[in-house]
Amino acid sequence: MIVGVPKEIKQDEYRVSLLPVGAEELTRAGHKVLVERGAGLGSGIPDELYHANGAEIVDTPGEIFGNAQLVIKVKEPQPSEIGLLRKGQILFTYFHFAADEPLTRGVLDSGVTAVAYETLRGKQGDLPCLTPMSEVAGRMSIQEGAKFLERPQEGRGILLGGVPGVLPAHITVLGGGVVGKNAAQIAAGFAADVNILDVNVDRLRYLEDIMPGNVNTLYSDRHNIREELQRADLVIGAVLIPGARAPKLVRREDLSIMKPGAVIIDVAIDQGGCLETSRPTTHSKPTYIVDGIVHYCVTNMPGAVGRTSTYALCNVTFPYALRIANRGLRDACASDAGLAEAVNVHQGRVTYRPVAETFGLPWTAIDSILSA
Ligand SMILES: NC(=O)c1ccc[n+]([C@@H]2O[C@H](COP(=O)([O-])OP(=O)(O)OC[C@H]3O[C@@H](n4cnc5c(N)ncnc54)[C@H](O)[C@@H]3O)[C@@H](O)[C@H]2O)c1
Repeated sequence: MIVGVPKEIKQDEYRVSLLPVGAEELTRAGHKVLVERGAGLGSGIPDELYHANGAEIVDTPGEIFGNAQLVIKVKEPQPSEIGLLRKGQILFTYFHFAADEPLTRGVLDSGVTAVAYETLRGKQGDLPCLTPMSEVAGRMSIQEGAKFLERPQEGRGILLGGVPGVLPAHITVLGGGVVGKNAAQIAAGFAADVNILDVNVDRLRYLEDIMPGNVNTLYSDRHNIREELQRADLVIGAVLIPGARAPKLVRREDLSIMKPGAVIIDVAIDQGGCLETSRPTTHSKPTYIVDGIVHYCVTNMPGAVGRTSTYALCNVTFPYALRIANRGLRDACASDAGLAEAVNVHQGRVTYRPVAETFGLPWTAIDSILSA
């Protein structure tokens, strides 16, 4: 197979979808690897390293999309890339379709097969390609929250850990999954006072067992959320209903009960965000203010720590990319139902039910396509 690695063009995105070791393994398995010039630079990986490991360096995205049968990316195709997609091509990347109807329709019209990192299921029912980026974003959310709570950044002027005689910040984490757990762990390390809310009581039991004493758990319902919003200096939005738009847990009117200058980091923004007032932002201008509350809604948080994130991402995505290249998508999916679940769009048809439901589009079961 010809495998292509374009340079990411989303604003402030510094990750790359393949490591030099991946280029070596693919070429050793008989595949041809095309890497766009400069693709790895944001993560500190020079072209020479890809070349030394068997990849061919090409100058334009057109050469990647025009030749590759399997394109591996990090972020969803941007508008200028959608026009380059070819019918029959496999695109393996994050899509987050449910948050973006024009993207969904563009990918449907292109005729590609969209294999989405975010819905790929592991053997334990986990989401292995989402996990490392959620670990990064969760840890980073506290780092960013600490920064934007500073007064020059328009926050409340609160130090997370407080000092002797002054209380620490109160942090509310909405959603106790991977993002929430990692956020709480880092926040606990800062000596903040942390509450994690979730609707999954088993998950709350687990968190209660492993978290230090300054982290408590709370069932996520409307009353508890409102009480938390009144207390919070920093709110982390970390809920997920896989493949669907995030539930709007914080309404516009709720902002008025919050403390002025409180900060909300809505990590779930890539699935539409869990606040009514969330809208996507970039690392260049990460925040905006609504009703006195600082909103941070960067859709590609891990992109800012590209080197850490690239290695963490490729560690989990590469084995799947290699399997698709070696066996073809149909065969690779036939032996791994979790990989089949990652196929969100197949040559003009939506094959992932929550995406079809979000946009009222017809749904075709991937199994029926694979067995045809
Ligand atoms: N912005 C970014 O750069 C970035 C990076 C990584 C991940 N994310 C996003 O962060 C979100 C969370 O990811 P994750 O890996 O932690 O998911 P996860 O599945 O591990 O955790 C989500 C949690 O939300 C809980 N939940 C669902 N409904 C809830 C509700 N009403 N109230 C409280 N909790 C509820 C679930 O029970 C689950 O424990 C996803 O949307 C993911 O795409 C964003």
